[in-house]
Amino acid sequence: MESILTNRKGLAQEIGKVAEVAGYLWEKGWAERNGGNITINITDWIDDDIRRLPGISPVYRLEVTLPLLKGCYFYCKGTNRRMRDLARRPMENGSVIRILDDCSSYEIIADEVVLPTSELPSHLSVHNYLKSIGSNYKASVHTHPIELVAMSHHKPFLEKDVLSNLLWSMIPETKAFCPRGLGIVPYQLPSSVALAEATIRELGDYDVVLWEKHGVFAVGNDVMEAFDQIDVLSKSAQIYISARNMGFIPDGMTQEQMREMSVAFHLPK
Ligand code: 13P
Ligand code: ZN
Repeated sequence: MESILTNRKGLAQEIGKVAEVAGYLWEKGWAERNGGNITINITDWIDDDIRRLPGISPVYRLEVTLPLLKGCYFYCKGTNRRMRDLARRPMENGSVIRILDDCSSYEIIADEVVLPTSELPSHLSVHNYLKSIGSNYKASVHTHPIELVAMSHHKPFLEKDVLSNLLWSMIPETKAFCPRGLGIVPYQLPSSVALAEATIRELGDYDVVLWEKHGVFAVGNDVMEAFDQIDVLSKSAQIYISARNMGFIPDGMTQEQMREMSVAFHLPK
């Protein structure tokens, strides 16, 4: 069914990409039941007609105040909704919200009253943070990749940059396509403000962070880019685990080989 949102080309394309990625998350086995969530800042695609749309829900309070998101619009996966359903019907399993002028409440404007993800504090705090540093990133993705979550159950892997270096060293492309590496967020209650705050602290240095014993959270220019970074890290994790399953500890690329990659590809680290 056409809606005022999806019959606008740019917006339809962005929401289409969310649906495509939601399908990948399900196919990869990272999105059991309602696992994971995606939000995108769609404010750039909002025209005056959409701005005039009335709210279709009550006003909901946020637990956080986000001064830079005043009047911004987000497409959000719905809480308790399945990625596999969102892949086919994004506007029935997610909704568009408007952040109100007090910067600490929002209303749903389209298409249906689908309550946004329980991880909204993390997603919106991250979007506010991204604006504060002048970033053009518009997408944030949280998902439950099996191997990376398994690795987060091993304390030595949670020391700063241990996993970044291990995963980068499994295959050259991981460093090229996830050049800022993997930050670590020690366990926090899902959907909590503490989790949101810890996530923001790590995003200063990384585009993807590992939530201990829970999942990963990634940001990017668009949802495809955020997904790709998780995908390359996950591939490296699988290579490491395959080698361990074959009974040996993989050599990994040397530090010198990784430095050579950084120079050749002009990488930040
Ligand atoms: P939601 O269904 O509320 O998006 O929660 C899924 C999840 O992964 C929480 O961390
Ligand atoms: Zn989760």
